[in-house]
Amino acid sequence: MRKLLITGGAGFIGSNFTRYMLEKYSDYQLVIFDKLTYAGNLDNLKDVEAQYGDRYAFVRGDIADPAAVDAVMQAHEVDTIVNFAAETHVDRSLMEPDAFIRTDVYGTYVLLEAANKYGVERYHQVSTDEVYGEIPAGHSSLETDPLHARSPYSASKAGGDLLCLAYYTSFDTPVTLTRGSNNIGPYQYPEKVVPLFVTNAIDDEPLPLYGDGRQMRDYQYVLDHCEGIDVVLHRGKVGEVYNLGTGVETENIVMAHAILDLLDKPYSLLRHVTDRPGHDRRYSLNVDKIRALGWESRHSFDEAIAQTVRWYVDNQWWWRKIKSGDYKEYYKKWYGQRLAGAGS
Ligand code: NAD
Ligand code: TYD
Repeated sequence: MRKLLITGGAGFIGSNFTRYMLEKYSDYQLVIFDKLTYAGNLDNLKDVEAQYGDRYAFVRGDIADPAAVDAVMQAHEVDTIVNFAAETHVDRSLMEPDAFIRTDVYGTYVLLEAANKYGVERYHQVSTDEVYGEIPAGHSSLETDPLHARSPYSASKAGGDLLCLAYYTSFDTPVTLTRGSNNIGPYQYPEKVVPLFVTNAIDDEPLPLYGDGRQMRDYQYVLDHCEGIDVVLHRGKVGEVYNLGTGVETENIVMAHAILDLLDKPYSLLRHVTDRPGHDRRYSLNVDKIRALGWESRHSFDEAIAQTVRWYVDNQWWWRKIKSGDYKEYYKKWYGQRLAGAGS
């Protein structure tokens, strides 16, 4: 493993992973392949380009475009593909599912075909705990559990997962998969709940909490997730799926209170708004399998949220640009009615 193609490397987790890998492995070269959708942002990689320019290349392209994928594979003699590229926001998948199916399902197929054609050492698929669907109290998902995806986002990710496993079975494609829980940390697009709440709170804007706010997520620090992918790339078994999270769930209202406490802002900023349709109430992962590879989450929820809040306070140059563009249209469309009819 020397030449890695990092698809979606200009997004939140992909850019953190790129920085992490270049810092850790001084003999690795990374090629970022990214379409630069609304969520892709070269600002996320600015420091990386400056620091590791000789071991880093950026190519703009679409994973659902076979010719573009072929060209990058050939030009850079890639031996490993790590696929982060995806449409990722559940609410947008309810508004416009089309791009989700094209990128998360068809794009995965295009990359798997390229993996076969060029005989890569490893194809790693970055997946999500959302493919298991809503998890009842008392259970934590095992890698062998059936998939019960319920949103267009999670259904398209589940489709990608199944394709990867089918390529392993049918063609011996050397795939590994991780199913990660919710990430938080630097460079997360402020449509996801934590950066949305932090940046709104900084500006004394309301925090739109869906329904009763008692839904549960396993919020993990993005660098723990990156380390987990690294461990699976180097020590994971081909053809296997690994859950990747802290194993600890937090209610959204508890997460929101933590953000407001850290920023010294009043709880009166919280607004209970109309719920997301089909909202999965709880995700929960059993992470014994990846722990057996020697990986442990390094950040508790309190540490992860504190570091995250600090980063958004210190890096307003990064998110203020985003929040002043097309983002405003999206925000109005999704939250306008919700906030107008909200209760505190
Ligand atoms: P993100 O939305 O921040 O970034 C996605 C990146 O993919 C962007 O840079 C975008 O430009 C790029 N992209 C989108 N469509 C593309 C296409 N057709 N071709 C090439 N590039 C394309 O997403 P993220 O939060 O960094 O998530 C990365 C991966 O991790 C996704 O596969 C997601 O499903 C998975 N994941 C995310 C989380 C989370 O909490 N964010 C948790 C578990 C798994
Ligand atoms: P989100 O960041 O969209 O991730 P997920 O893919 O897990 O849905 O949302 C995380 C949780 O926060 C989820 O339970 C929905 C909730 N949420 C809100 O309460 N308000 C919001 O404005 C958003 C975006 C999410």
